[in-house]
Amino acid sequence: MGRRPRNPLLPFLLGCLALAGCRQDMHDQAKFEAYEHNAHFADGRSARQPVDGTVARGEAVEAGPFETGHDANGQLLSELPVALSRELLDRGRERYNIFCSPCHSVAGDGNGMIVRRGFKQPESFHSERLLASDIGYFFDVMTRGFGQMSSYASQVPVEDRWAIAAYLRALQFSQSARLIELPAGDRQAVMAASTHQRPGNHGPGNHGPGNQDPATGHGEDGH
Ligand code: HEC
Repeated sequence: MGRRPRNPLLPFLLGCLALAGCRQDMHDQAKFEAYEHNAHFADGRSARQPVDGTVARGEAVEAGPFETGHDANGQLLSELPVALSRELLDRGRERYNIFCSPCHSVAGDGNGMIVRRGFKQPESFHSERLLASDIGYFFDVMTRGFGQMSSYASQVPVEDRWAIAAYLRALQFSQSARLIELPAGDRQAVMAASTHQRPGNHGPGNHGPGNQDPATGHGEDGH
């Protein structure tokens, strides 16, 4: 039962290991720990306040009528929550023609190209029911989707959804305005034009296949 021969290098190796264990680089980094004092700032704190207006990722932003389309009582807005202007309508028409006309058609009758290729046909924006709907309803449908139509909230920002909603109202008006509601010049132009029409074919909006942009007169398949 003799003792095993001792490795003469053993103490040296142990010493190396012990010294290596003394390296604390990962523990003592050049950083401030929570609540650590920092003389660099006047208040002496290392933790700084977030910049004003910072919204943390995932933090709920308090949503008002502008974001939801509903008033404080949960009713759909019946009025546009932004100022109506020519720019807003132009923007709305541009966005509508990009995002909505493929199904709803540029005239809003629900006969867009995707529908002609087999997608469910939406109700015409010129139906009695949608003529009578609140403007907040259009915003709500775009925001949350409706039946087979998916939500456009991720593709169309809030301001643009209101611009489209405003344009939808103008689009509806373009097909439903009564002569008396037109400015005098337009009224005369319509009356002059209608005297050239066949009997029984009254008013604006009765011509064409329904795929003309009422604002520009351009068809959606080319100009
Ligand atoms: C891919 C086709 C498609 C696109 C694009 C589309 N919609 Fe629709 N939309 C539909 C269909 C289909 C319905 C009817 C859904 C149903 O009844 O299931 C509908 C319904 C609606 C309705 C009426 C809801 C009702 O009460 O009948 C509104 C308003 C509407 N869409 C607005 C828009 C607007 C604004 C855009 C553009 C931001 C848009 N849609 C883009 C297909 C589309």
